Amino acid sequence: MRQAGRSLPEYRALKDRYTILELCRQPDLAVEVTLQPVRRLGVDAAILFSDIVVPLQGMGISLEIEAGVGPVIEHPIRAEDQVSSLRVLQPDPDVDYVLEAIKLLRKELRVPLIGFAGAPFTLASYLIEGGSSKNHTRTKAMMLGEPRAWDALMEVLSQSVLLYLRAQVEAGAQALQLFDSWVGHVAPATYERHVMPWVKKVFDGLRDLQVPTIHFGIVTGELLAHMSRTGADVMGVDWRVPLDEARRRIPQAMPVQGNLDPALCLAPWEVLAREATDVLERGGGRGHIFNLGHGVLPETDPGVLAALVELVHSWKVPV
Ligand code: CP3
Repeated sequence: MRQAGRSLPEYRALKDRYTILELCRQPDLAVEVTLQPVRRLGVDAAILFSDIVVPLQGMGISLEIEAGVGPVIEHPIRAEDQVSSLRVLQPDPDVDYVLEAIKLLRKELRVPLIGFAGAPFTLASYLIEGGSSKNHTRTKAMMLGEPRAWDALMEVLSQSVLLYLRAQVEAGAQALQLFDSWVGHVAPATYERHVMPWVKKVFDGLRDLQVPTIHFGIVTGELLAHMSRTGADVMGVDWRVPLDEARRRIPQAMPVQGNLDPALCLAPWEVLAREATDVLERGGGRGHIFNLGHGVLPETDPGVLAALVELVHSWKVPV
């Protein structure tokens, strides 16, 4: 979850010299930035340094990532003929630098490497809105008003995402996370009709690889039941829904990931320790991957993150 995200001085030093996309596109730099939080924090897994819009650039879409803003698409997709001009990603060679970074990382890492992609809805939203959006109005307008264009867009995106994730596993990724960051803006019935089939297609297409998959979006409390039925192995939960409540909304045996509010990392240690312990207790000790409930805030002290990792590691399941 953008864990390196701006909190580490060694990351900021690189950011002074390169843009985020440059860091993503140069395998040696992507490797270095991936390793930085692993070295410093003692986490149990590494997440590849890249961004969810990287494969879109690989598909020939012109875009930038502006610091403090997020992705910006040069020519947003607003009409059906623009959708039909999109082509499916061919991971090698379109994003060969990502695959190269994964191969290099596997030689360096002693913890598992998580690959990732943005889910079709979230990528579609960036393409249609042209960047971050408050209400995703144009995206919903296409989804509900131009189902033919929407289906065609979701088809090309879901195929691309599937091929991209498969290529990451072939290069060495040991788990996958699919981020549907903005899908919480969609009502459950609409999700079921216009989003879920495409997410299912991605997870169905990954099954033979036998790699654990995690699915996550923010403000998805009302969608957890649906998202847990897409074929993902682990349900990521944002910080708004307590994990014991999340478990009531999804199949009993499904592992959960989450979900400390990242803002708590700025609170006094006693408060952070109490709340992190609460997350661990609600997670129940088994079938739980401890994580933040969204990305690390840039002003976070890396020392606090390292102490948090230690707290989690020393916590014992109550008997
Ligand atoms: O831990 C890691 O650093 C892994 C790499 C990673 C990045 N983006 C690098 C990045 C991952 C896993 C992502 C995923 C991503 N990117 C998501 C899904 C996860 C989520 O947060 O819901 C989304 C929606 C994006 C799109 C995106 N990229 C946004 C909204 C932003 C924020 C812009 C800002 O500055 O607030 C980015 C930029 C970005 N991608 C950063 C990083 C480390 C921060 C940029 C910086 O260094 O200032």
